[in-house]
Amino acid sequence: MRTGAHEWAAGLRPPRGSDALAIRELVTETGVLDLNSTYAYLLLSTDFAQTSIVADIDGRLQGFITGYQPPPRPDVLFVWQVAVAPAAQRAGLAAAMLDALVERVRAENNGAPLTVEATVSPGNTSSRAFFSAFARRHGVPLTEHPHFTADQLDPDGAHEDEPLLRIGPLHSPTAG
Ligand SMILES: CC(C)(COP(=O)(O)OP(=O)(O)OC[C@H]1O[C@@H](n2cnc3c(N)ncnc32)[C@H](O)[C@@H]1OP(=O)(O)O)[C@@H](O)C(=O)NCCC(=O)NCCS
Repeated sequence: MRTGAHEWAAGLRPPRGSDALAIRELVTETGVLDLNSTYAYLLLSTDFAQTSIVADIDGRLQGFITGYQPPPRPDVLFVWQVAVAPAAQRAGLAAAMLDALVERVRAENNGAPLTVEATVSPGNTSSRAFFSAFARRHGVPLTEHPHFTADQLDPDGAHEDEPLLRIGPLHSPTAG
């Protein structure tokens, strides 16, 4: 059964340094995301905590989003990685995390409009469905643009292109 965003709300918070190992473990568990170093997740959990979020449900990390605001585009929240533990998927957790994160970042920027960006390989259908659902929920356009190419990501051709999705701008006072 689908869980309402309000039911996840109590477990959603910015990450801290002590979450980095669990974030890395969750990435491994999904089996589809690029696995980065613990050090990278530590940086994101500390210096980029204001633009990231974790779902800490009953003392277990069930999901996270890491993101940042690109210095040349301060009106953008770039979503780097999103993951939900396999057992918790399809219950609305990723949607609740992204809505809460966008709301928090907008509040910290005095309600200024925000555009969400992410790169998604053509083969990642769940990720595409997730971002399309976000755009529909907020009634804003989603556009796709060429961005990182397969040859930039892997000289042996083992990586797909990563085109850029741009969603927004989000103007409403709160997410939703
Ligand atoms: C992608 C992912 C984060 C979605 O998490 P989730 O908590 O299951 O997603 P939600 O339940 O919040 O669903 C949000 C929307 O995405 C859609 N969606 C999620 N997973 C989907 C799937 N496997 N197939 C089709 N649609 C999917 C849902 O239908 C929902 O849209 P709706 O509200 O219109 O019904 C999760 O599947 C995951 O961790 N995948 C592995 C890691 C990955 O691919 N990350 C990249 C994501 S950017």
